[in-house]
Amino acid sequence: MSGLVIAMDGPSGSGKSSVSRGVARALGLRYLDTGAMYRAMTWWMLREGVDLTDPAAVAARCGEPELVAGTDPDGPTIHVDGIDVAGPIREADVTGAVSAVAAVPEVRARLVARQREIIGAGGIVVEGRDIGSVVCPDAPVKIYLTASAEARARRRSAELTGSSVDDQQAAMARRDALDSTRKADPLLMADGAIELDTTALSLEEVIGEVLSLVAKRRSSG
Ligand code: DC
Repeated sequence: MSGLVIAMDGPSGSGKSSVSRGVARALGLRYLDTGAMYRAMTWWMLREGVDLTDPAAVAARCGEPELVAGTDPDGPTIHVDGIDVAGPIREADVTGAVSAVAAVPEVRARLVARQREIIGAGGIVVEGRDIGSVVCPDAPVKIYLTASAEARARRRSAELTGSSVDDQQAAMARRDALDSTRKADPLLMADGAIELDTTALSLEEVIGEVLSLVAKRRSSG
């Protein structure tokens, strides 16, 4: 399993994080949450007061923060300049601003380079939007997770207290539209990816499906 890379892409709320961590645990692989890296960059930009409506300003500063992402599926960590930001990057201010930061090509170039360093020789499940298309186009296993808009919103609002399904669905639709229509590395299904619709499946069922796809790929060489 040491050289294996599993690319796990899809829109928000499709179950990528829980599925990726479960698969990594089952196979004894590392786990990388690339969305957390875009969120950490956004947290830093907000703290520095960078004007996020100005892509040139974002591009000019994106080389400054030092991002460190841990890869233990049982306890993924993320630090910016030594500060633990695992909590703050899930707050509404970061969630509302991250699509603008992730659309800046210089940000993507820097984070993709960091991601490739972390992936190294493999042995890892990597979740994001552009893993199978840009970060690891040669990954032997590429999964594209989907679910209905309603199911995705339901899952997210169950995770967040005080958030209605309707509000979540509207916020996610906005974010997915931005992530899918941006010029730089938009969310799309990579060549060779297998689409898995998780709307009617439990987490255990999805993990089971992915594990059997991995087993099939490996036995076919
Ligand atoms: O998966 P998430 O919600 O934590 O991702 C946060 C944002 O980062 C999301 O709006 C899309 C962006 N993203 C990206 O552009 N490329 C990735 N590989 C991962 C996330």
